[in-house]
Amino acid sequence: MRAADIADQLSTVLVTEEQIHDKLGELAARVEADYAGKDLLLIGVLKGAVMVMADFSRKLRRDVVIDWMAVSSYGAGTKSSGVVQIRKDLDTDLTGKHVLIVEDIIDSGLTLSWLLENFASRGAASIEILALLRKPEAAKVEIDCRYVGFDIPTDFVVGYGLDYDERFRNLRGVAVLAPHVYS
Ligand code: IMP
Ligand code: MG
Repeated sequence: MRAADIADQLSTVLVTEEQIHDKLGELAARVEADYAGKDLLLIGVLKGAVMVMADFSRKLRRDVVIDWMAVSSYGAGTKSSGVVQIRKDLDTDLTGKHVLIVEDIIDSGLTLSWLLENFASRGAASIEILALLRKPEAAKVEIDCRYVGFDIPTDFVVGYGLDYDERFRNLRGVAVLAPHVYS
């Protein structure tokens, strides 16, 4: 669906479908150059990264392997505690692999920080991160993200894979929800 289809439920569109596709094209060109001559393993974090992975990976003019991981944050009811449980592990052995983690958003950075350590312990040759969105003001840990799409304010956003209560993942762009949707 497009923002216009649910205009009554959104307050602002932060990133349009077209801006996303242009940006993913730029990032794909950089990744092609950086990984020339190397095998590349893309790892998506379910479920939010599904759209980024689908569009970014198809913009690459080279072959890659794609794998998925599903994790959930544990903790005292907070959204991100930094304690992560693996719900679906990788199918791939990471030993000697050049890994690019494909993420929807970096918020506190706690999930990615945990994933980075976890992947490093499995013997990957290199590990980098591509994130479509980043909220610099929400960072609780510094994450070295080589490929960033857009820096955005700390407002909660939905669309392009990102959900509110599992809804709105199928919005084509990224938008801030209208306050009445939460109540
Ligand atoms: P972090 O560990 O705080 O960086 O959170 C990472 C995860 O929280 C992301 O992969 C998203 O699934 C979710 N998340 C963070 N911010 C938002 C948001 O604004 N909208 C929807 N999901 C979000
Ligand atoms: Mg996510």
